[in-house]
Amino acid sequence: MILKPKNANNRLSENHWLVVGSSGSGKTTAVKQLRIIKQGDQVALFDPYLDYETLCGAEVRRYTSLPRFAKALFSARAAKQGRGFKIAFSPNNGATPAGLEAFCKVVWACGDGHHKKPLKVVMEELAKCVTTSGKATGFFGEILTGGRKFGLEAICIFQRGQEVPKTITGNIPNKWVGRQQRTNDALYLSKELDFPFEEIRTLPRYHYLVKTNDHDIGKFDKGKLRKL
Ligand SMILES: Nc1ncnc2c1ncn2[C@@H]1O[C@H](COP(=O)(O)OP(=O)(O)O)[C@@H](O)[C@H]1O
Ligand SMILES: [Mg+2]
Repeated sequence: MILKPKNANNRLSENHWLVVGSSGSGKTTAVKQLRIIKQGDQVALFDPYLDYETLCGAEVRRYTSLPRFAKALFSARAAKQGRGFKIAFSPNNGATPAGLEAFCKVVWACGDGHHKKPLKVVMEELAKCVTTSGKATGFFGEILTGGRKFGLEAICIFQRGQEVPKTITGNIPNKWVGRQQRTNDALYLSKELDFPFEEIRTLPRYHYLVKTNDHDIGKFDKGKLRKL
């Protein structure tokens, strides 16, 4: 059986994020630090390498079993108070396309355009879990292209732009870019995400460029992460 999201609401705005940078550039730290996620938020995480023990001061409840993860997420979403939670799916076999798709199927069913709170959806190691660099497919694709109306806000984390579907690089309004090891990767991101090439190429470790829905065209901010 496929469960569907409910109450499509066209007034909701698209709040997806992409977080891209070489290994060790600070992507996971950025997600924890940059207020992409806040204390009272409702968050589901695909966390195959156990990067999130805590998030915004709250303990992350972790499940290796998909049915248990689904049960925990459905009941936390259904609670009337709309309280914040952080619930992770960490399959024993790590980051695989089947694992991500199973996670996305559960998350998709949690969408509700009339819910008090959006559901933020953190997805780590995306490049290992997608099978195409063309269009995003399956429930992962549904979340990216249709999630907005149901209050689903994806946070897509990966190392190189070429490894993930164009649906991510082309359509996501909020972008965090960390250090890139290869000139070619910096060039690709500068074209796809519309940042100046030299700004990306010369980024030191833990430094980043960020552009959100609120920036005017061509504008962006720069920053450096703190050590957590
Ligand atoms: N500003 C910083 N100064 C020193 N170390 C940092 C800083 N930011 C992050 N780190 C450390 O660098 C390592 C890699 O960061 P991480 O966020 O895990 O990178 P990624 O997710 O891109 O692989 C972590 O151990 C983290 O604690
Ligand atoms: Mg990481």
